[in-house]
Amino acid sequence: MKLIEVKDYQEMSQVAADYLLSKVKESDKLTLGLATGGTPQGLYEALINDHNKNRTSYQHVSSFNLDEYIGLSGKHPNSYYHYMNDHLFKHIDIDSENTHIPSGKAVDLEKECEAYDEKIRLHGGIDLQILGIGSNGHIGFNEPGTPFESNTHIVELAESTREANARYFDSIDEVPAQAITMGISSIMKSKEILLLVSGEAKQVAMKKLVEGEISENFPASILNRHEHVTVIADQEALAMVKGLELLNR
Ligand code: GLP
Repeated sequence: MKLIEVKDYQEMSQVAADYLLSKVKESDKLTLGLATGGTPQGLYEALINDHNKNRTSYQHVSSFNLDEYIGLSGKHPNSYYHYMNDHLFKHIDIDSENTHIPSGKAVDLEKECEAYDEKIRLHGGIDLQILGIGSNGHIGFNEPGTPFESNTHIVELAESTREANARYFDSIDEVPAQAITMGISSIMKSKEILLLVSGEAKQVAMKKLVEGEISENFPASILNRHEHVTVIADQEALAMVKGLELLNR
């Protein structure tokens, strides 16, 4: 795991954008894995700024999002489908046919899960996966206890995750209880992973990721077994980490 230590959220977002843009520019065909939440918003803003200024094209780029709430249609303002259009897709020239988000409204959700992994496989896998981390170590919506072998599946959201995400809804009662998420195994098949971590709320998670053991009780810990992970973390997120030398190994 390689660490890039940055000053703050803004620098994290810009460094991540520069990294992603270098891949967009050097590839003829690129499949991105994309995340939602507060963490990647600054990255997406930086990509939009670049697109407006430099006209970087995404015509050759496909994307697969990590997750979606079950029960919310794409029109719902809190669906991740809506988030992605609003925060990125409608501002750049990516072909909407090439953007993929699991459907939380599929009639047969099990089939939707299987079809999603198959679609990723047919695309030749994910070249670069962007990840955030939940304060309980979740990646995508893979909550503690999720088997490391899991493919795309349906999850019951942890109460702490619903509470953390309630800030986007009118009340916690409106936060869906379930989601569909790429599994740990689906994520680990990505050729490369960029994990973004910012702020005080992620200090404990950051410490466990670097210093803790690899365990299904802390899903992100599996990233220590991936061969090509870069963590971009800001000073606040790193404040509790003693063994910074454990990174960059
Ligand atoms: C959400 C998403 C994750 C995200 C995480 C952290 O529930 N499903 O993909 O990485 O929680 O969110 P945030 O970036 O808002 O802290």
